[in-house]
Amino acid sequence: MSYAIIGFGEIGQTLAKTFARKGIEVGVATTRDPQSFASVAAAIGRGITPKTLAEAVKADVIFLAVRFHQHTDVAKALPNWQGKIIVDVTNAYGVPDEELGGQPSARVVEQAFTGGKLVKGFNHLVGSILAQDPAVHGGKRVVFLTSDDDAAASEIGALAEKLGFAPINLGGLSEGGLLVQAHGNVWGRLIFKDLVKFD
Ligand SMILES: NC(=O)c1ccc[n+]([C@@H]2O[C@H](COP(=O)([O-])OP(=O)(O)OC[C@H]3O[C@@H](n4cnc5c(N)ncnc54)[C@H](OP(=O)(O)O)[C@@H]3O)[C@@H](O)[C@H]2O)c1
Repeated sequence: MSYAIIGFGEIGQTLAKTFARKGIEVGVATTRDPQSFASVAAAIGRGITPKTLAEAVKADVIFLAVRFHQHTDVAKALPNWQGKIIVDVTNAYGVPDEELGGQPSARVVEQAFTGGKLVKGFNHLVGSILAQDPAVHGGKRVVFLTSDDDAAASEIGALAEKLGFAPINLGGLSEGGLLVQAHGNVWGRLIFKDLVKFD
């Protein structure tokens, strides 16, 4: 499996730190020339490779770490996302429910990435907490996953475990997804809940 993070702002860099901590290679891309953020990537770790957007989207798993409205621009990078998993890290905070057509925000994102399988996850904590070592007090920090595709959710669950987190699958986007998204200016009930799981 190959991995890429699209968006290298606060949460994109945070995710890159989690990959670097475990020595898992990941490409990172923005709209800019990769040289312009190469020093930031190098400071995070050796396996964090700056790429053009066109190169980065060749990965099997794409973390979408851009602002919600920017997802449509990223989706234009490929005519079809078949065979790829999109991990939706966006939060549609402040986006009116009417604009989403009453759907979970992740389903709106999924529809833009034609043919791709979408898993929403890694979005419920602020970057400063997600960046910390997920091994906490003898347990593991929880990340919530939700998807309409069980196989894709399992794949990202296995990756989350490799990154040191305790993934909890909340089920489909219409059920679990609503707990970890914003509704207009109201956050879902599990957003910001920093939980630790003990086996
Ligand atoms: N910050 C947090 O603590 C946090 C926590 C959980 C979830 N989130 C969610 O994560 C998302 C990103 O938040 P953020 O705080 O990291 O935002 P940010 O700091 O503004 O970073 C956004 C990144 O996306 C890049 N970008 C914009 N348009 C792009 C495009 N078309 N193609 C490729 N890259 C593009 C930007 O780079 P250029 O404009 O330079 O190209 C920038 O690197 C948001 O949806 C937010 O709700 C954030």
